[in-house]
Amino acid sequence: MKIAASILDIKEPKSLEVSKLSKLDIDYLHLDVMDGVFVQNKTYSSDEFSNIISLSNKPIDIHLMVSDVKKYIDEFKSLNPEFITFHYEAVSEVASVINYIKNLNIKVGMSIKPTTEVSEIIDYLDYIDLILVMSVEPGRGGQSFIENSKNKIDALYDLRSKYGYHYLIEVDGGINNEVIKTINKADICVVGSYITLNDYEKAIKELRS
Ligand code: DX5
Ligand code: ZN
Repeated sequence: MKIAASILDIKEPKSLEVSKLSKLDIDYLHLDVMDGVFVQNKTYSSDEFSNIISLSNKPIDIHLMVSDVKKYIDEFKSLNPEFITFHYEAVSEVASVINYIKNLNIKVGMSIKPTTEVSEIIDYLDYIDLILVMSVEPGRGGQSFIENSKNKIDALYDLRSKYGYHYLIEVDGGINNEVIKTINKADICVVGSYITLNDYEKAIKELRS
């Protein structure tokens, strides 16, 4: 399984800490972008994020927790991310947003909150590169993993084999060295506080083992 390290709760000085983290065995840097509207908290602008990640060469995985999705895509495309993931709940014209990201040659991710069922998004599964299952309520790090997320991972795994879809399954929220053992059908796990509030190298080794 690939590991995307969320730098939401990383210590100061952020760019140096991100540089330290990026020398270790992680696959992506996961950037949580919050607008103070879709979720209560507000994070940095793309320029500020650009400084924070300037000493890293890891591929970037952007998780937009915002209402005005296209505005943030326009702003954050400058970071040359591998993925931009938006929330299904935030948009009315889902297909239009999927195409908007695709036309930028960026892989498209769509995320669902803990209360959104897989059955609601079936129509879009053939068109996305990644589905992000939120295993906590979006908005902050350090919460506990919601067990029901495993059923969604299983359902998405089975639908992919049944219909030959190509999306990756990513899970975000409350993942530690114990939880990771129970979500092995996922392709990418996002890990925040378990890494960034501990010894990075030791935590990553424990996640890998
Ligand atoms: C929550 C964010 C997550 C968060 C994960 O809204 O999307 O990426 O930073 O942090 P932990 O691993 O602490 O739950
Ligand atoms: Zn996230």
